[in-house]
Amino acid sequence: MKRFLLLAMIGFVAFGCSKDRLTDPLDIELDDLLGRLSPTGSADYYILPESDDFGSIIAGVNNPITAEKVELGKLFFYETALAGDAMHESSRYTYSCATCHLPEAGFMPGRKQGIADGGMGMGNDRGMNEDYDESELDTQAGRALSLLNVSYVTNTTWTGKFGANHTNADTENIWDVFEDTHINYTGLDGIEAQLIEGQVLHRMKVDEYVLDELGYRALYDAAFPDYPVEERYGAETTAFALAAYIRTLLSNKAPFQEWLKGERGALTDMQKEGALLFYGKAGCVRCHKGPSMSANEYHAIGVKDMYDSHGFNTSVDDLRNFGRGGFTGKEEDLYKFKVPTIYNMKDSPFYFHGSSKHTLWGVVEYFNDAIPENERVDRNISPLFHPLNLTTIEIQQLVAFLADGLRDPDLDRYVPDAVLSGNCFPNNDPISREIMGCE
Ligand code: HEC
Ligand code: HEC
Repeated sequence: MKRFLLLAMIGFVAFGCSKDRLTDPLDIELDDLLGRLSPTGSADYYILPESDDFGSIIAGVNNPITAEKVELGKLFFYETALAGDAMHESSRYTYSCATCHLPEAGFMPGRKQGIADGGMGMGNDRGMNEDYDESELDTQAGRALSLLNVSYVTNTTWTGKFGANHTNADTENIWDVFEDTHINYTGLDGIEAQLIEGQVLHRMKVDEYVLDELGYRALYDAAFPDYPVEERYGAETTAFALAAYIRTLLSNKAPFQEWLKGERGALTDMQKEGALLFYGKAGCVRCHKGPSMSANEYHAIGVKDMYDSHGFNTSVDDLRNFGRGGFTGKEEDLYKFKVPTIYNMKDSPFYFHGSSKHTLWGVVEYFNDAIPENERVDRNISPLFHPLNLTTIEIQQLVAFLADGLRDPDLDRYVPDAVLSGNCFPNNDPISREIMGCE
């Protein structure tokens, strides 16, 4: 009996703590590679914080993350009752932030281009409300970016034009060239600055109806007690609450994250091989960095624009096709776009800013061949965009890692059960209502 106990104890010491004990050669190799690449010397560097660990999530200037702000932001992000400034009556109160950043589509639109005001229907089937002309739709020239791990983004949008600091620290002299970037003079970081502007752009408003009839005023009072009453229910606090909430959107339950935290069986061997390629031979980590696998850097990889995908309200000579250069006006920034996160890419098959690729296989092949597909991109292609000589099996492994190793399967935890209006959400137009069973 004693002997059995002793054996059981040895067993516990040996296998009880799965984190430190690596026996599989693939696990050892990956842990070792990540440790060598990480600035801390440990693979733990790549672990994303828990969504309620507000002290570890990156906050914006003047906007510490609190539970009260997150609560208000979590409702507002889906609240179709904010859509009070729609262009036509028939679209009023029918859309929300989540119309273009759908949780089940990895916080992307689930179609090539997001359409909020003037759209009807869900995801890829969303079309135009017949009361609208194309020019009246709320659409942008790039696919909506994923909001997963957005707390790592210092300067927002594909061109990084929002935010006073970091990559925009030396762009102060051009903030008043464009009406929207004027907001950077507030000194705020990208997310907070963009969301002040975003309320106008997306035709949303917080008025007496929202505050008093729906009952949001009490949530503002709880979240912003230090604000004088005359500033407490304005565009800034609304932006700050939304920002606090989206900063908690972290793909921290993806299998790769579980693997990093010690659950070595969370990734299949195929996905582990793919991770080794991502951080090794394929060199993806040279641009997709850190826990978020994104970067506040701009690179030209020559992909097509939304114009080529026949998106609404854009054209061949749209300034936004010039990427970072369209904002800074600098020749050396032309055609460069921000490095986005690549978690949950499987959830919305429209890749790159112009939605030019529809499979992850196609994306990996594109990087493998390294032939720019957009003939208008005639300079500045990144030297890191070069042929990779991956074999078919290696492409398969890399795709397996991207598709499922980097897919958080439970994004539903970020969605509220209901919003205070009781409206259907994320969309509230007749077609969406019917699809979602809100009638
Ligand atoms: C009409 C569709 C649409 C709606 C509605 C919308 N967005 Fe977006 N969002 C986009 C697009 C498109 C981009 C990329 C814009 C660009 O690069 O110019 C984007 C980018 C962002 C970014 C920057 C992400 C990054 O990595 O740079 C944030 C943050 C964001 N949206 C949050 C929100 C919030 C919060 C709301 C609600 C207030 C909202 N969005 C409503 C389409 C939309
Ligand atoms: C030179 C830097 C660089 C390298 C190296 C790189 N990427 Fe990217 N990646 C980017 C940029 C920049 C974008 C956005 C480009 C655009 O849309 O204009 C992007 C976009 C993506 C996207 C689509 C994201 C979205 O929101 O649509 C995926 C997936 C992706 N990369 C995966 C990879 C993989 C896998 C590798 C390695 C084979 C890799 N990347 C190597 C810079 C890089």
